[in-house]
Amino acid sequence: MRRTVRDLASALEGEPVELWGWIWNKREHGKLVFVDLRDWTGVVQVAARAGLTDHDSLQVLRSLSRESSVRIFGTVVRDPRAPGGIEVRCSKAEAISPSTEDFPIRKGMGSKALYDHRHLHIRSPRMSALMRIRSNLVWSVHEFFRSREFVEVDCPTIITAAVEGGATLFEVNYLGRKAYLTQSVQFYQEAAIFGLGKVYSVQPSFRAELSRTPRHLTEFWHVEGEMAFCDLEGLMRTIEDLVRFVVLRTEELSRRELDLLRRRIRTEEVEGEFYRVRYSEALEVLRRAGREVEWGSDLGADEERIISSQFDRPLFITHYPKEAKAFYHKSDPEDPRVTLSTDLLAPRGNGEIVGAGVRIDDHEELLSRIRNSGLNPEDYGWYVDLRKYGSVPHAGFGMGVERVLKWILDLPHVRMASLFPRTPTRLYP
Ligand code: 4AD
Ligand code: MG
Repeated sequence: MRRTVRDLASALEGEPVELWGWIWNKREHGKLVFVDLRDWTGVVQVAARAGLTDHDSLQVLRSLSRESSVRIFGTVVRDPRAPGGIEVRCSKAEAISPSTEDFPIRKGMGSKALYDHRHLHIRSPRMSALMRIRSNLVWSVHEFFRSREFVEVDCPTIITAAVEGGATLFEVNYLGRKAYLTQSVQFYQEAAIFGLGKVYSVQPSFRAELSRTPRHLTEFWHVEGEMAFCDLEGLMRTIEDLVRFVVLRTEELSRRELDLLRRRIRTEEVEGEFYRVRYSEALEVLRRAGREVEWGSDLGADEERIISSQFDRPLFITHYPKEAKAFYHKSDPEDPRVTLSTDLLAPRGNGEIVGAGVRIDDHEELLSRIRNSGLNPEDYGWYVDLRKYGSVPHAGFGMGVERVLKWILDLPHVRMASLFPRTPTRLYP
C-alpha cells in the first residue's frame, strides 16, 4: 500500500509498503546501500542489500544520485539505530526520473549561492518546514478575521497614485500609460467598508526600497484590515487580538515543523498585554539609550531596534507627528501636531510589524492635507470622493507576513520567510 513517510509511524512491523519520493542522501557500506528517502512529509531510511533487494533494484539504487525520484517497495521495521526509529527494508526500487547532474545544493554553501539556487533549495526539509509554518500563519490570519465577521476583499495591484509616498513606487508601463505597483490596498479597502463594514486582504505589496536591511523586501505579503466606525482604541485592540491569536495559533499548528527546525515560538511574548508608549515618550527612551532624535522625524529601523530591544512584549508606539506619517492620517483633536496613528513593534529588537491609523474622514481636511503634502488632489479624486457621501470615522492597519515570521522564528532576514524573495539585488529565480 502506498504510504507517505509520515504515515509509516502507524504502520505495523513487517507491513509491506510503497513509497514515492526523492533520494535525499545515500550511503554505501560494502554490500549495504542506505538511502534517506524524502517526501513532503519527512525523511526515512531505506536499507537495501543483496538477498533482501532484487538484483536490478540494487543496481538502480547504486546508480542514482541525490534528488533522483524513486518508487520504493519494502517492509517496515522498527530499528532504534535508524533516524526516527523506523527503517524500510527495500525489496524493489524503480527510478521515476534520475537526476542527470549532481544536485548543486551542498552543506556549508554560502547564502548567495543558496538564493541563486532557491528553486532547488526549497526542497529541503528545513525550508519546507519554514514554508509550512508560513502557510499556517496565513491560515490563522484568515481564521481570525473570519471569526470576527470581516469580509475578505481582493484589490487591484496596478494603481495610479501612491499610498505610502512616491519614494518607493515601482513604475509600470500600463499599455503606454504610467501606472504603479501598489504599496498597500488601504484606499480600496476604505471604499469597501461603506458596503461591507469590516474588510481584510492578504495580498502582495511592492516597495522600491533601496534600504538593504534584514527587514525589507521589494515585494512582501501584506495583511491589511479596515473598519468602519473605529477609533484608535478599537484599532489597537483589534491589532493586539490579531497578533496574539496568530502567534498562538501558528505555534499550535506548527509543532512538528518547529521540532524539525529546533525552534520554539516564544508564546509568552504575546500572552500579557502589549505595551503602549506615545511617540514623545519613545524619544525619551531613545535619549536615555544615547540616541537623540528630533521631534517630528520618523523612527528608522535602527531607532526601532533600540526601543524594541528594551521590551519583552510587543509595543505600540502611538501619536506620531503629522510630518512623520502619510497624508491620510487623522490628527488628534487634543493635540493637532500629532496623528491618531500607531506602529506595533515586535520585541527583542525586531521593530515594526504593523503600521496603523485612524483615517481623515472630513472632505476639506483631507484635501488640505493632500495639498500641504505637495501632492496633486486630482490624483486622489475617487479617494477624496469617499468623504462626500456619508463619511464615517474609520481606521485600519497593515501587517507584513515576513516581518512576523522573522520575529517569531528568530530569522536573520525576512527573505528566509519568502519562497522566492524579491530584494533590491534579487529578481531571480
Ligand atoms: O507601515 P506601512 O507602510 O503601512 C501601510 O502600508 C498602510 N497603508 C497599511 C494600512 O494601514 N492598511 O506597512 C505596513 C506593514 C509594516 O508594518 C511592515 O510589517 C510591512 O507592512 N512592510 C514591509 N515588509 C517587508 N518589506 C518591506 N519593504 C515592507 N514595508 C512594509
Ligand atoms: Mg510603517
